[in-house]
Amino acid sequence: MSNGRIKVGIPGLDDMLGGGLIPGSICSIIGTYGTGKTTFSLEFIWDGLKKKENVIYISLEEREDRILKYMTLKGWDVEPYLNKSLYVIKLDPTDFNLANNRIKNELPKLIDEVKATRVVIDPISLFEDLFTTDFDRRQEMFRFIEGLRDKNCTIMMTSETQPDNVFASRHGLIEYLSDTVILLRYVRPSDLTDVHLALEVVKMRMSAHSREIKPYELQQDQVLVYSEANVF
Ligand SMILES: Nc1ncnc2c1ncn2[C@@H]1O[C@H](COP(=O)(O)OP(=O)(O)O)[C@@H](O)[C@H]1O
Ligand SMILES: [Mg+2]
Repeated sequence: MSNGRIKVGIPGLDDMLGGGLIPGSICSIIGTYGTGKTTFSLEFIWDGLKKKENVIYISLEEREDRILKYMTLKGWDVEPYLNKSLYVIKLDPTDFNLANNRIKNELPKLIDEVKATRVVIDPISLFEDLFTTDFDRRQEMFRFIEGLRDKNCTIMMTSETQPDNVFASRHGLIEYLSDTVILLRYVRPSDLTDVHLALEVVKMRMSAHSREIKPYELQQDQVLVYSEANVF
């Protein structure tokens, strides 16, 4: 049963979220490189496409063709959706004026034009890096995200963590601006024989959610969350 939630498309995670994300809410996926942020956001996009929704994927890291190739390698036939209900846009994360204009002015218009109901920004941390002062970053990000709240659209943003704190996003900002925060991280057991991945839902406004830490695996064609297993 969907109970009106927007599914991420990862079964064990959707269960932890009480069925999925709240429609129109803003979700952050926070984790260091290789924890699966891009993979999670592609699952979210693919779930939307399968449900005949219109989706926008803003990539600040990987080129359009690489994003499409990842999806194809997962066995998803995305070609028929391209530029009809799937819009993939690569932004240059070194040109502040251009990226700023496209994210703040063009994205809201595009959401309206194509009637997008799901948007991914992967990773928002590369955009946040472009601001020269904390004050500007805070003010501009707050305005940008508040602007997105007026849309009938569920947003997923990803962020790298801080070098010395794997529990916080790069600038420690988006976890406050988001309704839902999902933390991905590596867990290294004391015997150091193996590295595991674990996820938790650290915040979900206006909803009950699981507070358990669950192991997950990034597999070729799916993300597997072991919702019955315990990490510690
Ligand atoms: N086809 C695949 N089969 C199994 N694991 C994969 C595959 N593709 C990627 N991965 C795993 O996913 C990781 C990258 O995930 P990604 O979503 O790009 O992470 P992030 O965006 O957080 O850097 C890789 O390091 C690898 O462990
Ligand atoms: Mg990535």
